[in-house]
Amino acid sequence: MVVLAHGELEQISLPVVHKPTNFFSDVPVIDLSDPESKARLIGACEELGFFKVTNHGIPMELMAKLEDEALRFFSLPQVEKELSASSPGPFGYGSKKIGGNGDLGWVEYILLEITSKPISHSSLSFLKEPSASFSVLNEYITAVRKLACEVLELMAESLKIQPKNVFSKLVTDSESDSMLRLNHYPPCPHLQGLDCGLTGFGEHTDPQIISLLRSNNTSGLEISLRDGSWVSVPPDQSSFFINVGDSLQVLTNGRFRSVKHRVLANSAQSRVSMIYFGGPSPRERLAPLPLLIEEGKQSLYREFTWCEYKRSAYKTRLSDNRLGQF
Ligand code: SIN
Ligand code: FE2
Repeated sequence: MVVLAHGELEQISLPVVHKPTNFFSDVPVIDLSDPESKARLIGACEELGFFKVTNHGIPMELMAKLEDEALRFFSLPQVEKELSASSPGPFGYGSKKIGGNGDLGWVEYILLEITSKPISHSSLSFLKEPSASFSVLNEYITAVRKLACEVLELMAESLKIQPKNVFSKLVTDSESDSMLRLNHYPPCPHLQGLDCGLTGFGEHTDPQIISLLRSNNTSGLEISLRDGSWVSVPPDQSSFFINVGDSLQVLTNGRFRSVKHRVLANSAQSRVSMIYFGGPSPRERLAPLPLLIEEGKQSLYREFTWCEYKRSAYKTRLSDNRLGQF
């Protein structure tokens, strides 16, 4: 049990994870300005389900502005943040518990629903902030969704399936269930040494189609390799880290891998991450694309709607077995 001073995260009991592992120097890097590099995308999706994207076209200034906005909100007194968390449902401000998917963690967050309408004071009553915040948020969401579509189209091309928007249309659907989450992992000063061994965000896979993560330069993100070992991802604030989500694993009949990941807390520095989750519409029926079921092989998953999956995914932690039930 860790006790914090009043005004910070409340008392929480945290699972202790293993010591952080070595930095993983081989995170695949896809340079979107280089066709040769883009050709390596398919291997990254199949092997790891995780890669870094450079030359993505999103200005560093925009990413930095949103990070500043998030930090400004997170530095408000706890009472004020909680009072402003009056949004119904899972959206708004939260701390300690991550919406059912993931674990108890050393983290506070703002979860925003992305709809076809821009985020405004009326759609986001809990953030009574200067309108500049909203224009930064909306600009960021537009840019990151465009990048998600570019990457999803590249994935379809590399799988040689048509039309090339077969995946991207799911996240541009006017009812797409997409979200932006701003996470803040405060430093854990009570614990000595950088590797404090506390869970910032428990291990999980992302249930959506694709996740695009941008963080500041504080480490903490770890991914699980195929052999089950955990490796630490060196942070890079100018790039995006992209995860294949469960839904894309299903659509590709398991050819692409939804990567298990977690975040360790840091005793010295705070971590801020901003994650776009591109999800399908609730009524979307998900099943392996026939073109991706190899000859003589079977479909590994039965058809289900995103709504059904989300309901079950948020109840329990995911595993490949669990996916197999669908
Ligand atoms: C997540 O996996 O959703 C959290 C990752 C992070 O905050 O870096
Ligand atoms: Fe995640």
